[in-house]
Amino acid sequence: MHTPVMLAQTLEALAVAPAGFYVDCTFGRGGHSRAILERLGPEGRLLAFDRDPAACAAGVELAADPRFELIHERFSHLEAVLAARGRLGTASGVLMDLGVSSPQLDDPARGFSFSASGPLDMRMDPSQGPSCADWLNQAKQTDIENCLWEYGEERFSRRIARAIVAARSRAPLQTTGELAAIVAGAVPRRPARIHPATRTFQALRILINDELGELRAGLAQGTRALGVGGRFVVISFHSLEDRMVKRYFRDLARPPEPPALPAESPFRLLQRKPVTADEAEVAANPRARSANLRALERAA
Ligand SMILES: C[S@@+](CC[C@H](N)C(=O)[O-])C[C@H]1O[C@@H](n2cnc3c(N)ncnc32)[C@H](O)[C@@H]1O
Repeated sequence: MHTPVMLAQTLEALAVAPAGFYVDCTFGRGGHSRAILERLGPEGRLLAFDRDPAACAAGVELAADPRFELIHERFSHLEAVLAARGRLGTASGVLMDLGVSSPQLDDPARGFSFSASGPLDMRMDPSQGPSCADWLNQAKQTDIENCLWEYGEERFSRRIARAIVAARSRAPLQTTGELAAIVAGAVPRRPARIHPATRTFQALRILINDELGELRAGLAQGTRALGVGGRFVVISFHSLEDRMVKRYFRDLARPPEPPALPAESPFRLLQRKPVTADEAEVAANPRARSANLRALERAA
């Protein structure tokens, strides 16, 4: 199961109108989608995306709802999908709840988890691109190091990259357990709040799924999807994503430099600071701890 993060805050930010047209870019297990559908009347529509075939398979139970459509697609194709339906510039709300879902993280076979060993895969869509093992077994040491440094903000990136290259010269890496053990052996031992491989796994997941490229494209296309009065809500889980969302929304909402016309930006931020989960939610769902919700409205 996947517990949707900041559900009440998301619905408030989207201000779901019963006859509106909504886009859920990250269906997952449909927690947010179901809540949107509950608020939609018979005229309302919800189009959902997920790049993971397993998420799309889990969504078939909603297939009987004529207001709902779920497609197996990356949200970097949002604009093309909406254009094909004559829906560009008409969305009442666009939602992105980024990252991986609990079923993806918890299933060792998907290769995202260092707590239970499984094949070192990490692809949200296992039919696309190289697996993490394929990449790690052939990448240059400097590329591994840069990945860990940039996407994991891992201060021991050099040591870890060196240890990975040494290990794979003995035998190709195959499992998440092997990688977690290599990382744990490469960094200094000290009491830590998080597992020593947390940042390495985060970095590799971001790289393998091109998560920042997806977000960059998704932000631009999600903005163009909005109709007047439409709202764009993004929930992110780490600082690289949150920074990108924050800057993108801030720049859109900034008034144009004179003498550009119109003098006002057509976009406005719904709140200056990100919305975060309250203590009760964090206690019940630790994933919510690092979530930041930001929202933008197309006012004109
Ligand atoms: C955090 S989960 C969403 C959970 C969902 N809101 C719920 O309540 O069940 C993120 C989902 O987005 C999907 N995803 C991540 N990046 C994507 C992308 N670029 N395009 C489409 N789906 C993506 C993942 O496969 C995952 O299923």
